Amino acid sequence: MYRIMFREDLVPNIHLFKMEVPAVARKAQAGQFVIVRVDEKGERIPLTIADWDREAGSITIVFMEVGATTRKLAQLKAGDLLANFVGPLGLPTHIEKFGTVVCVGGGFAVATIVPIARALREAGNRVISIMGARSKNLLFWEERLGSVSDELIVTTDDGSYARKGVVTEPLKELLEGDQRIDRVIAIGPTVMMKFCAQTTQPFGVPTIVSLNPIMVDGTGMCGCCRVEVGGVTKFTCVDGPDFDGHQVDWDLLFARQRIYLEEEKRAVEQWERMSHA
Ligand code: FAD
Ligand code: FES
Ligand code: MG
Repeated sequence: MYRIMFREDLVPNIHLFKMEVPAVARKAQAGQFVIVRVDEKGERIPLTIADWDREAGSITIVFMEVGATTRKLAQLKAGDLLANFVGPLGLPTHIEKFGTVVCVGGGFAVATIVPIARALREAGNRVISIMGARSKNLLFWEERLGSVSDELIVTTDDGSYARKGVVTEPLKELLEGDQRIDRVIAIGPTVMMKFCAQTTQPFGVPTIVSLNPIMVDGTGMCGCCRVEVGGVTKFTCVDGPDFDGHQVDWDLLFARQRIYLEEEKRAVEQWERMSHA
């Protein structure tokens, strides 16, 4: 069993857990993920490692409530236990001195982009970060991302805070501007990553995205996380999650993410019945 050391509600539907998992904390690197099971009867869900503390033996995860399992997870508090916490899984994000790197984070993935921006900066890159949310009340970690970036641009879809619009607008302006951009890393909802990759393609700037297909085992055995990149089948959990955004078959990814919608809807209905019983 794995203990929740600390819980924080970052925004109403996005929560942070600091978990006591020394074995995972010892090895964690930016871009990797864990697979979590809430209890013995629960399904396995992947969540990205948002931070780690090797001395304290802790891993931070940040998750958004979207369905039955994440809602169940959101009911837990500090001191509660999770049945499984497996990781670190996946390949770490490739870090080297590229020059100037733009890191784009949308929604809950702002948490994911922070350790990547930090590692890129430590490797000597100039890091420009763009973070976006639908609205001001869904924004979190502006200061934290700002502290690991040379420049930070914030957008809200509805203009309730900072710049009105979506993240691809400042991204395009940066690409059209005077400074050379050597690499873009975009992490967030699939549609955001697709449009970031489309924005950078005409400029020929290498663009890395972190794919989020449905996963089960997380070790390359079930085939559930199959994606197509450059016409080749890849298993996201062992070959990724980072891939070349210009090569991803986005339509296939969208279709595969939706294959269990009926079952997911039933699971939420069942969860609502049980939690109101
Ligand atoms: P459901 O109602 O069951 O599903 C809602 C949607 O989530 C589905 O339509 C499907 O597209 C997706 N989903 C469902 N089951 C899975 C599954 N087993 N694996 C992957 N996607 C699934 N979310 C976060 O909030 N924070 C993170 O840091 C984070 N990191 C991720 C890292 C990776 C590598 C991947 C693949 C996904 C990550 N996700 C993250 C997404 C998260 O796993 C899903 O939101 C979660 O599994 C949904 O579970 P649910 O039962 O609450 O919702
Ligand atoms: Fe099973 Fe990747 S999750 S092969
Ligand atoms: Mg589910």
